Amino acid sequence: MSSVNDIRRTYVDYFANQGHHIVPSAPLVPENDPTLMFTNSGMVQFKNLFTGVEKRSYTRAVSAQKCVRAGGKHNDLDNVGMTARHLTFFEMLGNFSFGDYFKEQAITMAWDLITNVLEIPAEKLLVTVYHEDDEAFDLWKKIANLPDERIIRIATDDNFWSAGDTGPCGPSSEIFFDYGDHIWGGPPGSPEEDGDRFIEIWNLVFTQFDQKGDGKRLILPNPCVDTGMGLERISALLQGTNNVFETDMFKTLVDASAQVTGSITNEDNIVSQRVIADHLRTMSFLIAEGVLPSNEGRGYVLRRIMRRAMRHATLLGRNEPAIYKMLPVLIQEMGQAYPELVHGEAMIGETIRLEEGRFLKTLSRGLQILNDTSANLNAGDQLDGQTAFKLYDTYGFPLDLTEDALRTREISVDHAGFDSAMQAQKAAARASWRGSGATADESIWFGVSENMSPSEFLGYDRQKSEGEVLALVKDGVEVKRLGVGETGFVVLNQTPFYAQSGGQVGDIGTLTGENVAAKITDTQKRPGGLIAHAIEITSGELVLGVGVELEVDDRNRSAIRANHSATHLLHEALRQVLGEHVAQKGSLVSADRLRFDFSHNKPLSAEEIVQIEALANGIVLQNGPVETRLMGVDEARAAGAMALFGEKYGEEVRVVSMGTSKNDDGTDRHYSMELCGGTHAKRTGDIGLIRIVSESSVASGVRRIEALSGSGARAYLTIQDEQLKSVASVLKSTTSDALFRVQSLLDERKSLERQ
Ligand code: ALA
Repeated sequence: MSSVNDIRRTYVDYFANQGHHIVPSAPLVPENDPTLMFTNSGMVQFKNLFTGVEKRSYTRAVSAQKCVRAGGKHNDLDNVGMTARHLTFFEMLGNFSFGDYFKEQAITMAWDLITNVLEIPAEKLLVTVYHEDDEAFDLWKKIANLPDERIIRIATDDNFWSAGDTGPCGPSSEIFFDYGDHIWGGPPGSPEEDGDRFIEIWNLVFTQFDQKGDGKRLILPNPCVDTGMGLERISALLQGTNNVFETDMFKTLVDASAQVTGSITNEDNIVSQRVIADHLRTMSFLIAEGVLPSNEGRGYVLRRIMRRAMRHATLLGRNEPAIYKMLPVLIQEMGQAYPELVHGEAMIGETIRLEEGRFLKTLSRGLQILNDTSANLNAGDQLDGQTAFKLYDTYGFPLDLTEDALRTREISVDHAGFDSAMQAQKAAARASWRGSGATADESIWFGVSENMSPSEFLGYDRQKSEGEVLALVKDGVEVKRLGVGETGFVVLNQTPFYAQSGGQVGDIGTLTGENVAAKITDTQKRPGGLIAHAIEITSGELVLGVGVELEVDDRNRSAIRANHSATHLLHEALRQVLGEHVAQKGSLVSADRLRFDFSHNKPLSAEEIVQIEALANGIVLQNGPVETRLMGVDEARAAGAMALFGEKYGEEVRVVSMGTSKNDDGTDRHYSMELCGGTHAKRTGDIGLIRIVSESSVASGVRRIEALSGSGARAYLTIQDEQLKSVASVLKSTTSDALFRVQSLLDERKSLERQ
């Protein structure tokens, strides 16, 4: 029997032998699509090759692409565990032609691979074509010799494929396998098509169009091919089952879920065990890419998936963190194909464990409320929206978790009631905010944010991304466009630009689009979680609704990162040299320098400065990784992370640690650990060098140091050196003798004066 890992290899090798370039999986958070939450198919990373905007050295490609379908156009979340074939995370095998071969060759290769290489019996296969696609119909007849009744014409969207609402798309042709009449279900297009008897194993898309946002559909200059075969489904078939959860890989994961939850595998438990197995893969891959559970955007989808898995673990009788213990099993199964899991193991495991701990604190109380309120409800009834909102707001139950919990009893949730409870809460927050003496500028932004989700910040992991223009503001009013030479603010759905906060300045960089080029001169936070980019249009015009490329100025950001990490190292060094009374009173982290104010009641001596610099630079030389974890505030404090006194933190915080040093008992600890939302160097060595350039007083009991790092520090030292050399040259001495020469000149002057 071929394992999942063997089947992946067979597919890729087959197409490589047919002249296809092997392309590695792209990240799950798309780099080139502002409208897509997650990569949901193999073609996403090739969008610009289909449209012809981008050219590469190859015109044929093959890939095994990690995909998540848990939000947006393609969403399989609710089906997981209930059917034999739905997963939130799966791998899509695909071959692609960028204006190279088209329908005939795509069908020929697909049929050859399926029937000759994978040896799937032809008589069990049937295909669909888009109802107007006579060409595909005839080709299936010619190539596969299929009788007319096994080539089904489908008129719906099922046979017209696109990844999202816009972009490359086209009619498709799907290959189905018939598992036999002992399983319920009907062929595609029949009323029973949702059953598990006929399962789609491969989708061949004949990509001919580019769907634009304004409703126009352009014809692509060269027709292309995009195919997708779910690795888990084909593995199930080849391993003699119709159920993806019975493949070798999933059996191992389902067994692991039984083991960590201490449950047996029987009819009652199997759904929960399968949900956990599926969701473990999704959460681990997302966390490996730097997505962390949060209450917004992708982070919230991740949280929903994690919490849903956790509820299923409690259904299996487990009330302690458990899912994180499955990670080594996942890594053993998938780590070779996806090394990011191996590299991220510690961070992924800890993120899952902490989220489990956090949620379990309120889960049982929430479940009790849910059980009490729903006790009198029957199949067909609705849970009131107020209760669902209370579970969401107070007990951290995402709405779909509440729905999932009630689904087996066929009870639904009143969405409208939930939404109005949410609106009422927002209105209350707004009222209290209005009364807080906000400025006129803030009031405008409040209006802008009213119908908008908070902007999603992508800049911890990347400095380039696309974004969709959601609002433009000029001179305090919302506008529809900004023309060349104009300045204003732009808000996008997502951005890699860091908005000024926590002492770190806002990012600068560029914005470019089909018809526009602009400079981003600053980035600021605005009410409602919006990130506003100060913009100056240098050519064309920027209009609402378009997708644009955003790129943070790399030199500037790298310098900021280094200075921010240097600030943390100096903070700890100050405490070690001057004493524990040193507390941060303010800071500024920009590209050219850093400033740090702290409590201390006398000037620093020259020796103290030397010691502080030596300590901080010692950690730079360790060149260890700068690690970021997400923790509850109390957990973070208990772990010894430094926090600002009096600062308001959210429920969760990022904790940044760097360097190692010794505890009194000889064990290792992090040299520095601080609550911080800023961006940092990857390794301490990236800081290069830290140099304190000034020390002064700002208020009674508060001192200020200013320092440089990296090339700024080096340039500073070069200038100092040059100055010393000039002094030496005027004195006609060497640099090492200069001090002695000055001293003797002064002595000489004194004695002359005396004479
Ligand atoms: N992009 C196509 C799909 O995902 C192949 O089904």
